[in-house]
Amino acid sequence: MKFPVQGRQKQELLQQLSATKQFDVPWSEGKVFAYVYDAGEEAMDLLEQAFTMYMTENGLDPTSFPSCMQLEKEVIGMAMDLVNASENGSGTFTSGGTESILLSLKTARDRARDLQPHITQPEIVLPVTAHAAFFKACQYFDLIPVTVEVDDNFRAIPEKMDAAITDNTILMVGSAPSYGHGAIDPIEDLGQIALKHNILFHVDCCVGGMYLPFAKSLGYDIPNFDMGVPGVTQLSMDFHKWGYAAKGASCILYNDADVRRYQIFSHANWTGYAVINPGVTSTKSGGPVAACWAILNYMGREGYERLVDASQAATIKLLKAVEGIDGLAVMGDPKANLIALKATDFNIFPLADEMKTRGWYIQPQFSFENSQENLHLSIGYHNVEQMDAFIADLTEMVAALRSAQHAEAKQQALDPQIKAMLENATPQDLGKISAMLGIDPSNPPERMEDINALLNGISADSREVLLGEFINQIYMPA
Ligand SMILES: Cc1ncc(COP(=O)(O)O)c(C=O)c1O
Repeated sequence: MKFPVQGRQKQELLQQLSATKQFDVPWSEGKVFAYVYDAGEEAMDLLEQAFTMYMTENGLDPTSFPSCMQLEKEVIGMAMDLVNASENGSGTFTSGGTESILLSLKTARDRARDLQPHITQPEIVLPVTAHAAFFKACQYFDLIPVTVEVDDNFRAIPEKMDAAITDNTILMVGSAPSYGHGAIDPIEDLGQIALKHNILFHVDCCVGGMYLPFAKSLGYDIPNFDMGVPGVTQLSMDFHKWGYAAKGASCILYNDADVRRYQIFSHANWTGYAVINPGVTSTKSGGPVAACWAILNYMGREGYERLVDASQAATIKLLKAVEGIDGLAVMGDPKANLIALKATDFNIFPLADEMKTRGWYIQPQFSFENSQENLHLSIGYHNVEQMDAFIADLTEMVAALRSAQHAEAKQQALDPQIKAMLENATPQDLGKISAMLGIDPSNPPERMEDINALLNGISADSREVLLGEFINQIYMPA
């Protein structure tokens, strides 16, 4: 596409932007069970106004924009209160869970370099259920991830985590909850292990930080998971998930403010202005922190309890309904609003496609270790009104799929030749493979069941190669 020579009219541009969304998942109807968090019209309106009011302010320089710093300080203070952080702690507002996790591991690495210089190959011990962002951090910061298997309910096994810790371990990870199955790791037991070995312990509350505290105060069965648990040194929590904030809002918190010192990037050795960044980014719109500050104060504990109570009720309704659907089962023992559904006697991937024909979006997850392939749902306030309709469609679709015996043929193992080809593929092979299978990577088919089945039938390492190249190819300049 050529750079425009002449400018265009505002109205025309806004119309085009609006039209560009036409193929997106239709989240505003409450039929999407991932990616989007919508607490209703008034909340959305508040976010929009607060965001645009601060859109142009730059959080890069607190001396020029004390407003952004003040809002960040208040947001971090509220978050620390919510998750029972120590009064000696501190934190940083970030762009998302991934940045929070990146910062936490970079901090751990630099602290170890300073205090334990004999460690040349620092290790991070984490359950296989830990979010991909930890692996990204290991890749970026040259840390070694040591993964540990989980139990049948997808929770970390304390004895196995303990056994995985070596003299090179600088940090251990637990999730509250993990994304895939919504399992809450035994944080109290893991905290004791962290104390025993004197290592840092990061609780990933990215998806739980703005949910579990309210579920707990409402009386739901939630184990202790937060910064008040002995041994927990740092915690990530996202406001842009169940805090219903505008995207670009998360934080990393530390129980000991001294640890945060290792996070700060400070550079004066160049010809320009001194660059001092607590986070990954430098220039930082004030929009996300302003919108976040606004929604936290708008909702308060009471507002969030209302949202969580409704979401818990809808989740429990679904869990009960699934008990009555032959062939479908809930995986593990989810305590909050994230669940994974597996098929006991049919192929689950076509179910996502079938549900999509009725406007529902549920997220396919491939088999890995002790987790078979499944469909994930994150259930929020925006889904509550739709839950009865969802259950009705789910019940009907599962019955139809099973009786069509659709699954039987599809469940057959992958053709060994195709499997070998996919397993050994290099990024450069994607084009050839797609052509052979009749798939156009730049225009994936409406129904993903065949592609999901292929990917599910190969190793996770090979999936990484193929999917990485797929993304490399589809993000091509227009
Ligand atoms: C447990 C957990 N950790 C980390 C993340 C990463 O968060 P983000 O997508 O905001 O970077 C997620 C995202 O869903 C998550 O569920």
